[in-house]
Amino acid sequence: MYELHKDAPIGVFDSGVGGLTVAKEIMHQLPDEKIVYFGDTARVPYGSKSRETVTRYSRQIVRFLETHQVKMIVVACNTASAYALDEIEKEIDIPMIGVVRPAVEVASKTTRNGRIGVIATQATIDSQVYSTYIKQISPDMDVIGKACPLFCPLVEEGLLEDPVTDEIARRYLLELVDIGIDTLILGCTHYPLIRKTIARVVGDGVTLVNPAYETARELKEMLLEKDLLTTKKPDLGTDRYRFFVSDGAEKFKTFANSIIKYGILSAKTINIEEY
Ligand code: DGL
Repeated sequence: MYELHKDAPIGVFDSGVGGLTVAKEIMHQLPDEKIVYFGDTARVPYGSKSRETVTRYSRQIVRFLETHQVKMIVVACNTASAYALDEIEKEIDIPMIGVVRPAVEVASKTTRNGRIGVIATQATIDSQVYSTYIKQISPDMDVIGKACPLFCPLVEEGLLEDPVTDEIARRYLLELVDIGIDTLILGCTHYPLIRKTIARVVGDGVTLVNPAYETARELKEMLLEKDLLTTKKPDLGTDRYRFFVSDGAEKFKTFANSIIKYGILSAKTINIEEY
């Protein structure tokens, strides 16, 4: 039987660097918590893979996180939340939270005209997870999904503020504005990193929903409810945040340090296929 301890770390995983937007929010909203982050940099992207493959990968990562005795697992990847979360949640004793449901709840409360746009990877759009959950809350809502496959490589190339990113954003997003959405879910963990560009293109009439923020908020509520919030202040000099990847630890570390200003001391490569 797996034991959950209040002072154990929170496990966070993603297909690569995108989940760092969620980790950053957790660090901000839950500053005393420890985090073990895994980025599957060898097998990214998940957004073009099948449900079976994404579920197999996610299961291996969960096994790896279990070896760190995590008390909670945050699936900081929309594609894995869409394809793997429901199945894996039933198999383990560790509570899990994905990024889809928290965003759906906020978007449903935010929209005034009932027209919600979702931008995400092809896999997340194909899974229809956002429209399914939104319609469970409010069957009359219109949910318009749009896959934006070029956004992830642009983010990974560091083109966060760039004319190329502006142009691609216009191509993807103006049709959503024309349809009349008033709320837009950033349904991929990379997208909050280009939210300024996205906001500029869609204009003031569209409210952006950032799942990273909402997930960290809901995580805090879940920890409180389950009596799993840490009671310890982190000791100075301990490895409060630990980062693991399946490839390219140095590149990951450089990227991560550019987003998270909490100082990522090290990132370690592990062989995820062993789990
Ligand atoms: N992290 C993934 C997501 O949120 C995007 C990158 C990928 O395709 O793996 O869906």
